[in-house]
Amino acid sequence: MQQSSTPVIAIDGTAASGKGTLCRRLGQTLGFAVLDTGKLYRLIGIRVLNTGIDPQDEDAVTQIAQGLQTSLSLDELNDPQLQSDEAGTMASITGQYAGVRQALLDFQRHFAAHPPEIAGIGAAKGAILDGRDIGTVIAPDADVKIFITADLQIRAKRRYKELQSQGIPVTYDAVFEDMKARDVRDSSRSSAPMLPAEDAHQIDTSDMTIDQAFDKAISIINDAL
Ligand code: DC
Repeated sequence: MQQSSTPVIAIDGTAASGKGTLCRRLGQTLGFAVLDTGKLYRLIGIRVLNTGIDPQDEDAVTQIAQGLQTSLSLDELNDPQLQSDEAGTMASITGQYAGVRQALLDFQRHFAAHPPEIAGIGAAKGAILDGRDIGTVIAPDADVKIFITADLQIRAKRRYKELQSQGIPVTYDAVFEDMKARDVRDSSRSSAPMLPAEDAHQIDTSDMTIDQAFDKAISIINDAL
């Protein structure tokens, strides 16, 4: 249990598991500020792409992350470029490096301890961090930890439909293979791999609607806080 007065909820899980939608809804309902930590890694991925650095060059990528560390602001996370699948894949590749993860550590911990005001609402009542290693590394003392996942084929179908609805030309097989590769990379890296914390509640959204997943999460949170 977190000793600070600001409650922290750690939500980790796989890509396209529904955790992003869930976190936004939980944030609105509870009046908690939400940090989508994937956007931090995506920002580094995009910088690497834009500067033409080889993503396999750990030292060069780490330098980019360290350079960004001092100037990082929440406003930068609204850049629409961060939403592309290319940014997600780059984030998964460059997020393997220990130096990159270290560079993003303080920003995430600061958000958890001092969640920013919510526009139009005011002071946040707590913080929700959405990521891969929140419950294990960033906020191991979080008040509530939830790990969200879903069957790989179901997640790939969800992502495929989403991309199709945005008019992005892509095949289901390509989405499936990309997601499979991303799962393997995220869960097998040596530095802070994606993994449920021992004390995390697990929710499998394969056969759940968004409403059902939300109800399940809110009942876990209400029991814990
Ligand atoms: O959640 P997302 O799809 O925006 O994340 C993109 C990639 O970033 C993900 O595949 C792995 C990496 N990531 C990470 O390593 N640690 C986090 N806390 C969040 C994301």
